[in-house]
Amino acid sequence: MKMLLPGLLAVLLGACASAPQKSVVKNDTLYQRLGGAPGVEAVVDASLRHVHGDLRINIFFENSDLADLRRLLIEQICAATGGPCTYTGRSMEESHSGMNLTDKDFDAFVEDLIAAMTEVKVSPELQQEVLALFGPMRPQVVGQ
Ligand code: HEM
Repeated sequence: MKMLLPGLLAVLLGACASAPQKSVVKNDTLYQRLGGAPGVEAVVDASLRHVHGDLRINIFFENSDLADLRRLLIEQICAATGGPCTYTGRSMEESHSGMNLTDKDFDAFVEDLIAAMTEVKVSPELQQEVLALFGPMRPQVVGQ
C-alpha cells in the first residue's frame, strides 16, 4: 500500500494538470472561445488601433465617430459569433456607401484585423473562424 500511494497521487495530479484551465468545450460559441465581451472588445480596440495607424486606409476614418464605430463593431462581432448582442447599426452596403472602397482597401482592413487578433493572442484557428464570418461581406463593402 505504501508503494501504491505515490503512484496513485502521480496519476491524479497528472489528470489535474491535463484538465483545461477554463471549461472550453467544443460546443462553446465562437464568442465564448474568443473570451466573451472582454475578448471581443480587445479585438475591436486593437483593430481600430491598427486601422488608425494604417496609412493605406486611415483617411477613410478621419471624419468618423470612432466611439460609435467601436460600439457597433463590438455589437456586430458579438452577434455574428453567437454572443448575446443585437447589431443595431446600418447594413454593410449603407455603412460603406459613397466610399467606393476597393478590394485593396478591403484586404488592408483584413490585414489589420489579423494583426490585431495576433496581437491580442487569438489562436490561428479562431482567427480563421472570425475571417470566415467577415470575408464573405466583401461584396457588401467593396464598390458601394
Ligand atoms: C468585413 C469588413 C468590414 C466590416 C465588418 C465593417 C463594419 C462596419 C460597421 C459595423 C460600421 C458601422 C455601421 C454604422 O455606422 O451603422 C462600419 C462603418 C465604417 N466602415 Fe466598415 N467594415 C468593414 C470594412 C471596411 C473597410 C475595408 C473600410 C475602409 C477601408 C471601412 C470603413 C468604414 C468607415 C469609414 C465607417 C464609418 C462610416 C461613418 O462614419 O459613417 N470598413 N463598418
